[in-house]
Formats: sequence, structure tokens, C-alpha cells
Amino acid sequence: MENHVKKYIMDCDPGHDDAVALILAAKHLDLLGVTTVSGNQTLDKVTTNALKILEVIGRTDIPVYQGSENPWIQKLETAPQFHGESGLDGPRVPAPTTKPQSMHAVNFIVETVNKHQQLSLIATGPLTNLASALQMDHTISERIEEIFIMGGSLTYGNWTPAAEFNIYVDPEAAYKVFNSGVPIRLCGLNLTRQAFVNEKDLKVLEDINNPVSLFCRDLLDFFISSGGRKAPFKGAVLHDVCAVAWAIDPTLIKAVDMHVQVELQGKFTRGMTVCDYRHTGDQDPKTDVNHDPILPPRGESPNCTVGLELDVERFFKLLYGTIESYQ
Ligand code: BDR
Ligand code: CA
Repeated sequence: MENHVKKYIMDCDPGHDDAVALILAAKHLDLLGVTTVSGNQTLDKVTTNALKILEVIGRTDIPVYQGSENPWIQKLETAPQFHGESGLDGPRVPAPTTKPQSMHAVNFIVETVNKHQQLSLIATGPLTNLASALQMDHTISERIEEIFIMGGSLTYGNWTPAAEFNIYVDPEAAYKVFNSGVPIRLCGLNLTRQAFVNEKDLKVLEDINNPVSLFCRDLLDFFISSGGRKAPFKGAVLHDVCAVAWAIDPTLIKAVDMHVQVELQGKFTRGMTVCDYRHTGDQDPKTDVNHDPILPPRGESPNCTVGLELDVERFFKLLYGTIESYQ
């Protein structure tokens, strides 16, 4: 008899914030596997990084599966300006002693979803693997409990004025996932920008002073500097950590349900998440579109629960408490 405790697969492209997200997930969630996807760097590099992270935290028991090398249609774009040439520049970590599994990540996702009840996915990279899994076996959309996604934005983008990196890298895959019918919890930039760290956080990690906190310190040191921001805005955002934190503690994030589409055509807006904020019932008397007297009839029904507000204090308490608990 299967033990019906929630299980997770984490699909990622580590990546500095993916690394911290994985460190958090490995402690709190029943992770059946980590799947990798090209994004922040090429597939070989992000896979090596995933193996390294698991080795640093003493969790080589979690299997790693390599996934998609390229987006569905367009050419891969990576982000060395933020994550370095290795995708995880900063900490000096030896080459991993472990290897990825021989099974492809997409097969692993399909097989695992079909085998388990109460399985959710956490996606912190481009959505290529998830879309390919849904393409390979569309029936998994009825079995996946929910998908926690770091991607998109309710406001403005980062990679382009309109688009966030993960969605921009593979918009066709994102479109497939957003239209799959699987419930989505969306951590867009509007939410993740609240998970801001700066040099004060380096000190916190230094003071915790265990191998995992020092690894995180070196990660964030690089990530903060690579952003190229100047004081008082010098810092970095732990985007991907928000998706994991939401899975661990749903009360950390205030959210509303809405319909979200992925723009595939726009000359200036390709990769944008078009969020239908109307009719959400979320009311801000000063700015809220829901107060517009000429509100048109209700649009399509919600496909996403979109994060709006992070309980920043409790988020960092969870994160630093977890890092401290690694000995
Ligand atoms: C996302 O892009 C990547 O660089 C980060 O790891 C995060 O997943 C933020 O736009
Ligand atoms: Ca990522």
C-alpha cells in the first residue's frame, strides 16, 4: 500500500536561487527526484550543478534526471550575466562524485506521476520538461495535484520589459503547461521581488557557520554582485525559493485566483504572462481595476492562483532556520 503523503518532483536549472530553493525543499518535502532543464545555463552545466548541490547538503539519495537541452521552438538563451559561466559561480565545490540517472527527465516525470497519488511539481526553470511530459501523456494532467511555478509576472518583466526569464526562454512550453488544466500556483516577479537579499544576509549566513550556510553565503555573494545594482539597491532576489516555500507553508503567501495566458505572438510582449486581474475580488481602493465601473463581463475561468504578497519575515525565518538545521 502506498503511503499517501504528498510527494514532489523539483524541475530546475540551477542557478543560484534554484540552489537555495533545492536546499529548502530537500529538508521539508518528500522529493522523489530532481529534474534538470536548460535555462540559466546549458543542460550539462545545470545538471552538474544539481548533483553538486545535493552532495554539499548530503542528499545524494535524491536522484537527478537530465531533461531537455533546448526549448520547444526557439534557440536557447542562457543567463551567464547573473549565474556565471558554470551557472553556479561563486562557491568552490569539487566536481560531483555522482551521476545523473540514465532515464530522461520527461520519462521520469510521466512514470512517477502515473505511479503516485498526491504528487505535485515545483518548476523553477523554463517549462520545457513539464510541457513535454504533458505532450507525451496528456492523462497526467488529471493526476498531478498542482504545479508550483516560478515564472512570469503580474506587473513588469526582467528579461524584456514584458517577459520574465523562465517563460521567455520557452513560451510555447509555458503555454502548454498553463493550458493543461493542472492547478498552478504562480510565483511571478511581482511576488518574488519581495524575497530580496543584500549584504546583511551574507553576515547572517556567515554567523550560522555550517558548511551549507557558508555554501549559501558564497552563492549569494556572487549573485548579489552579478546583479550589478549599486547601493542602496545592491542585492539579489531569491525568486525560486518562493515556489518551494509556498509548497512547504501555504500561509506564507497571499494569493488570488485568475486566468493567466502566455503571449506567443507579440513583437514586444512574447513570453509575457497576461494576467486577468479583473473580477479577482482583490480590492485596493486606490488602484484596483475591480473598482472600474465599466468592468466588462467575466473572462475565462481562473487557471492559476497568483501570489501577491509574501510574509517576508516568516519566509526568511523558515529559510535561515532550515539552513541552520543542516549540520
Ligand atoms: C528566474 O530566472 C532565473 O535566472 C532564476 O533562476 C529564476 O528562476 C527569474 O526570472
Ligand atoms: Ca531558476
